[in-house]
Amino acid sequence: MAILLDGKATAEKIRKRLAEETKKLPEKPGLAAILVGSNPASKIYVDIKEKTCKEVGIYSERHNLPENTDGKELIALIEGLNAKSSIHGILLQLPLPGHINTQTALDIISPAKDVDGFTSRSVAKLAAGNEDNVPCTPKGIIRLLEEYKIPIASRHAVVVGRSMIVGKPTAAMLLNRNATVTICHSKTPDLGNYTRQADILIVAAGKPKLVTAEMVKQGAAVVDVGINKVDGGIAGDVDFESCKGKAGWISPVPGGVGPMTVAMLLENTLNCYKGIEG
Ligand code: GUN
Repeated sequence: MAILLDGKATAEKIRKRLAEETKKLPEKPGLAAILVGSNPASKIYVDIKEKTCKEVGIYSERHNLPENTDGKELIALIEGLNAKSSIHGILLQLPLPGHINTQTALDIISPAKDVDGFTSRSVAKLAAGNEDNVPCTPKGIIRLLEEYKIPIASRHAVVVGRSMIVGKPTAAMLLNRNATVTICHSKTPDLGNYTRQADILIVAAGKPKLVTAEMVKQGAAVVDVGINKVDGGIAGDVDFESCKGKAGWISPVPGGVGPMTVAMLLENTLNCYKGIEG
């Protein structure tokens, strides 16, 4: 029976530490969240991020822009937030509506306020091995592996998913820690052929129950990044019930990576406040 990678409990510990730290500061760290349009999942994520900020003593402000906002308006808002001294971190919730160039908008965010690590500068830094500004979900995944003392160096890590939000930066962070890294994606034939070789298996494909027990190596660490709406609730990308008897460690959904992502956002905001990027 696998050890549960308890993101809920680990994130709670981190939030407690952050709350202790923010209490002692002369002013509150501030996070601005920008939501463009009305993607229901994005709204839920931003709601959770705002609520959790308040719980740990971080000031949060929310900017809701309509779906038809043009790129120039969005850029003007970001420039205003770059100049605002009460704001230390800027989060531009993705995805943006199709008519806005996502990377152009992200690249307006001041390097000192890049809490998500999505600017071109931060992406390049991560590729070069500098983790000053790393995206929150990959950072949460690595922190969870570290919390449970799961060895990374010299292990084979297989990442399923190649998004700029999760797959690519997670692969880069694992590589920075000397794992041998394989990246798979929706066009990979015979996915199981790769996942069965993984000592560490990270699944961020957005497909409910994609990974089943026969695709997992005995004793592997399985991290499920999926949050899929299905009849009767939420399912991860990993079939938890079938995999828990085979994996050495496994993260649940909910209560695994999700709360870690939010905790890392708060930590990154506090770091930006302190002048440590990200
Ligand atoms: N959309 C899905 N995950 C994230 C995230 O971590 N940050 C932002 N900005 N958008 C997202």
